[in-house]
Amino acid sequence: MTGGASGLGDADELRRADELRALVSYHNDRYHRLDDPEIPDADFDALVRELRDLEAAQTQPVSADRDHRPADLPVGAAPSTLFTPVVHPVPMMSLDNAFGPDELRAWGDRLSRLVTGPAVLACELKIDGLALSLTYERGRLVQAATRGDGTTGEDVTANVATIDAIPAELGGASSGTPDLLEVRGEVYLSLGSFRALNERQAAAGLKTFANPRNAAAGSLRQKDPAVTAGRELSFWAYQVGEVRSDHGRVPDVLTRTHSGALAWLAERGLPVNPELRTVSSLDEALAFCRHWEEHRHDLDYEIDGAVVKVDALALQARLGATTHAPRWAIAYKFPPEERSTSLLDIRVSIGRTGRATPFAVLAPVVVGGSTVSLATLHNADQVRAKDVRPGDTVVVRKAGDVIPEVVRPVADRTHRTRTPWEFPKTCPSCGAPLVRLAGESDTFCTNLDCPAQRVARIAHFASRSAMDIEGLGEQRVELLVGRGLLADVADLYTFTAATFEGIGGFADVSIANLLAAIDASRTRPLHRLLVGLGIRHLGPAGSSALARALGSLEAIAGAEEDELAAIEGVGPVIASSIVAWFASPVNRAVTDRLAGAGLTLTEPGWSGPSGPGGGAPGVDGHTAGDPGAPPAPALHGRSVVVTGTLPGMTREDAEAAILARGGKSPGSVSARTWAVVAGEAPGAAKISRAAALGIPVVDAEGFAELLATGELPERAEGAVPTTAPLTPDP
Ligand code: IVH
Repeated sequence: MTGGASGLGDADELRRADELRALVSYHNDRYHRLDDPEIPDADFDALVRELRDLEAAQTQPVSADRDHRPADLPVGAAPSTLFTPVVHPVPMMSLDNAFGPDELRAWGDRLSRLVTGPAVLACELKIDGLALSLTYERGRLVQAATRGDGTTGEDVTANVATIDAIPAELGGASSGTPDLLEVRGEVYLSLGSFRALNERQAAAGLKTFANPRNAAAGSLRQKDPAVTAGRELSFWAYQVGEVRSDHGRVPDVLTRTHSGALAWLAERGLPVNPELRTVSSLDEALAFCRHWEEHRHDLDYEIDGAVVKVDALALQARLGATTHAPRWAIAYKFPPEERSTSLLDIRVSIGRTGRATPFAVLAPVVVGGSTVSLATLHNADQVRAKDVRPGDTVVVRKAGDVIPEVVRPVADRTHRTRTPWEFPKTCPSCGAPLVRLAGESDTFCTNLDCPAQRVARIAHFASRSAMDIEGLGEQRVELLVGRGLLADVADLYTFTAATFEGIGGFADVSIANLLAAIDASRTRPLHRLLVGLGIRHLGPAGSSALARALGSLEAIAGAEEDELAAIEGVGPVIASSIVAWFASPVNRAVTDRLAGAGLTLTEPGWSGPSGPGGGAPGVDGHTAGDPGAPPAPALHGRSVVVTGTLPGMTREDAEAAILARGGKSPGSVSARTWAVVAGEAPGAAKISRAAALGIPVVDAEGFAELLATGELPERAEGAVPTTAPLTPDP
């Protein structure tokens, strides 16, 4: 089409369009033929979109999709010589994309102009794998083919025969089975199988896969079916293709509705995704899309969007297709979680324990729903393994609530000409040497007077998970440390209004609030203070275990290492770190001053030692039973998940209360969860998972009862989730 770019304006645009065509063609080949894409899908989509905009005046539309190319480009992947080509009797089309609600509504509007009356819509997940066509003759699998360029695919029957999820024979009554039945669907790798595969690849010194989709494609398109067999591939059927019966009739169910046809496939043993919903309005379809946009990480496989389809097959036939995609379906694409951008610099930040963490300074990029300009690189080994160098174009990933991370460089010829990044030899804050101990992956600034460490330590002490001093964030701590007003956490309790005289950034009201917040922190229980002290390896769970077992800071400071290590939830690593921390005169001086400042150095409700050989942990007044034997703690061995805000209690307090009663409080809901405590604004994923698993959900009041009695309040039995399922099951 180079000669036919009549819609393009000037020479620059023509040149850019040519460049884009070459790029799209190159990346298409890397994705489809080599199963080794260089750039994230979203970058590819952006290239196609740019080309489409340049070609806007062309009569031939250009689709923004990986699976089909602008009309003038060599379309899709040429069949590989590894496999026999298979011509699809009915071409395997692609889907048009909707990027966001407006584009979905625009599709709905087009639909309602073509259809009279409301249409039932089938909403499905868009599985991020690769399309596969399965042909069953009289119920027997005779051929499996990849999509290829949509017209011609590759014969991968021998490989597919090794996939457990795909039945070699259809189950159910053979009488109703058509002579020929083509089933289309997506082959994918679950996240668990993907991780395990990459671990095996790395252990064997082989190349690891960038994502589950590449791993699935690479695993299916293997010369040796035995390799495919070892890869745990899975499959979801999403469409009935060709159906023929030379003798007898095609079952009506296969010609009426898409959802009915899929249910029929499921009855015959084909995996059909359970999240399919039929809805009767576009608003409900949009709610489905939004729900899964938010919950995509609840699944054990990757999805990159949702697919909305007209359910009635006669209506699908009437609507037909454009040159490349059906009019009766649309893919609602989620915002990308991976994008590429320029790596401007690599720097290190110093944490409260002195750990030096390398991080990337990036040209800002919108990824995972927010603008990212800093991303972690974890440690020196990771930078080396990823081999990212300042000046590179890098792939950045931001998935869910996870900290943004640099994944890899985008391979380009200039990468090698740049100097590999070297870990700095000295601390960027205090100039002291950075030390990496043998056998450790982390590098440390060992100067306890390092201002960056000091700031991080004090900010950690004041943070919500520790002493919860509102109004004392990192910036204010930095300011006070910089002015020489704050050297350690004990200094906080010497503050008066006069301390802040002449310092900008502190209004009278905010000084009063800060002093009140510092004062209030004096009453925090011991386990919170232990978190705040920032002893290496000692997190909230270990702090609660310690406080529960020993009850006072004095007892902890005086305990032998063996005694500490024997406490459940502490262990030898934490024990040795605690002993080392209290051995430091500087640290002991700080705890002495904290004691002098009137802090609570004991665990409220503590009523004696716990654990094997000890008495019961403090189970407020719940000590019934054989006076000779320690009574079982109220929540003994039970797993209680806390979500949302509880009145007058932080999440850590709630978890500590559960631990203090012998229970566990993991961060996620599983089949082993005994109850879920839902405060204000609970996590929808946790609530819906509890509902799906039939786990009781209790409110704040119920939680108090549960803590007091160890029993579920009656009303919690068979509790209903606070968020209703989106739509009834079909
Ligand atoms: S329907 C003619 N449904 O997305 C429409 N496709 O760009 C046939 N995909 O090539 C596709 N999940 O590989 C459909 N629930 C789903 C899907 C799905 C993933 C893939 C499929 C297709 C691509 C469309």
